[in-house]
Formats: sequence, C-alpha cells, structure tokens
Amino acid sequence: MHLVFRCIICGEVYIGTEKPTNCPFCGALDKFLVEGKAFRAPDEPMKDISEETKVMLQKTFDLEVHATRFYLAASKRSSDPFVQSIFKGLSKTEREHVSVAAKALGVSKPDNLTEPEGDKGSDEENIRETDALERRATALYKEFLEKAKEPRAKQIFQALMEVESGHIELVNQ
Ligand SMILES: [Fe+2]
Ligand SMILES: [Fe+2]
Repeated sequence: MHLVFRCIICGEVYIGTEKPTNCPFCGALDKFLVEGKAFRAPDEPMKDISEETKVMLQKTFDLEVHATRFYLAASKRSSDPFVQSIFKGLSKTEREHVSVAAKALGVSKPDNLTEPEGDKGSDEENIRETDALERRATALYKEFLEKAKEPRAKQIFQALMEVESGHIELVNQ
C-alpha cells in the first residue's frame, strides 16, 4: 500500500510503500520522517530567536550554499558516471539544506546556486575536499547543536550533523 511520508526537517513529501532510511531530499534520518497526517509545519521563519542562533543559522546557510556549488563543480569536472552521481546527489542534498536554513531565517535562496564554484582540478582532489568539507560541517553542527537553545534550531543542527557525517562515510568507502 502506498503511503505519504513527510520530513519534519525540509518539509518535503515522499510517497512509497515503506518509510525510506533517509529523507530522499535532505537526507535526514528516518526518525525525522512522519506519516503525512501526523505532520505539523514548524513555525517558520523562526520567531524570537537569539542573536547567537541567528548567526549560527546564517553560517549554516553560507556553508550549504558553498557546498551546493562545490559539488556541482565537482560533478561537472568528472568524466566518471559514478563519481558524477555521487557529486550530483551531494549537491541536491546540500541545496535542500540551503532551503532549510533559508526558511528558518525567513530569507530567500540565493540566485547563484546553479553556478559551480571551487573545483579542485581532479576527482581525487575533489573527493579529498569533500572529506574535509564534511568533517568541518559535522564539527560545526555539533557545536551549534550544543549551543542552540531553541528546540527547532536544535532539531535542524542535529539532522544536518547526522547527514553530513553520513557524507564522510560515503566518500571513504
Ligand atoms: Fe528532508
Ligand atoms: Fe549540508
């Protein structure tokens, strides 16, 4: 039987016979997926957030914009269909993370998301850069998770930390 699932991180909808292990859009773990009827939209843009949380969400936004554009560049650089697919998938996921941060802050997505940026010149170098980028991101979201007071902000940083840590695994197998 087909069911509707909805991600409480990115808000996207998935229709399928089973709950996937991760949100097909933002990559959040299945604990963040709820059945359609149980979904309650978060209060966004977030109200009454501290200056500190605003700064953390802005840093999240900037990091995710950069990651989206870097993975696009890495995908375009590669002539290997499998490597292209890894970077294409990563770029889509990070683009979804831009939306998550943008919605929380109440700002629009930038126009430059489709402009590649930061190609390191070869698949090997781009894979190495991916590992470094995702390690930085995981550490940053862990720090933000500990600092943030607002439940919604904590939820976002928790989900992103887990997703980016999965990306480290992906490029190290
Ligand atoms: Fe999601
Ligand atoms: Fe991300």
